[in-house]
Amino acid sequence: METSGSKEPVLYGEQLAGEWSEWVETPNPEGSREKELFPEVRSWLAQRRPTNVVDIGCGQGILSTLVPSEIDYYGVDLSEPLIARAKKQYAAPRRSFESGDAYRLPFEAATFDAAISFWVWSHLASPLRAAAEMSRVLKPHGSCLIITANPETYDVRRGFYSRYEEKDGLIIGDFDLGDGRKLTNTTLYLHTIPDLYAALKGAGLVIEETKRAGMLDEYPAGLYLIISAMKG
Ligand SMILES: C[S@@+](CC[C@H](N)C(=O)[O-])C[C@H]1O[C@@H](n2cnc3c(N)ncnc32)[C@H](O)[C@@H]1O
Repeated sequence: METSGSKEPVLYGEQLAGEWSEWVETPNPEGSREKELFPEVRSWLAQRRPTNVVDIGCGQGILSTLVPSEIDYYGVDLSEPLIARAKKQYAAPRRSFESGDAYRLPFEAATFDAAISFWVWSHLASPLRAAAEMSRVLKPHGSCLIITANPETYDVRRGFYSRYEEKDGLIIGDFDLGDGRKLTNTTLYLHTIPDLYAALKGAGLVIEETKRAGMLDEYPAGLYLIISAMKG
């Protein structure tokens, strides 16, 4: 299997990229992504007012639509099919999409006021390396927002797979999206909250706030963590 030069396999090939794009591009205003998480991104940007933002693991690019048009947005993703989709779907002034690895971002040091990584760190074997690279491209006092699977609800999450294998802290399996849809052979690294915090702190990022969100009525711990931090 192709690899990103790091330990994990590159899984968003044609099939998973197609499944992902179809799901994301089907409006679901009552889903936690659109109802709870997108507003968090919008309000975080409104508070920080960056001049530019890098979206690390941008997928098919939908987060670019949450970013005010006067902000320069740079989406980066390892998946060529998803970057191709992003360019087709969301090409606009001040929007750029390019292939790149979260561990080796194609940008100079101290380029960005803000960085977002939304549902990406659970795919990464090493949050430590990803945080270091994110910190490298942030300007001093730049801000970052990490939205990822909440380790406190991994047990709930295991129930969302129609089939999975778990070994050495990694789940690989078919994630059931409902309505007969699924994400085939997708990965979930079972990082702990201390792992995530240690990654950020180790990269010189000061954690400002952690929120929990995602189907809180059903799962009071929340399916997602929303961690905001600042480069010291
Ligand atoms: C669940 S999707 C989320 C996409 C997007 N952030 C969103 O929420 O719409 C995870 C994305 O992480 C990307 N990804 C995984 N490992 C990566 C890496 N090492 N560098 C860059 N992107 C990566 C995948 O290709 C995929 O597009």
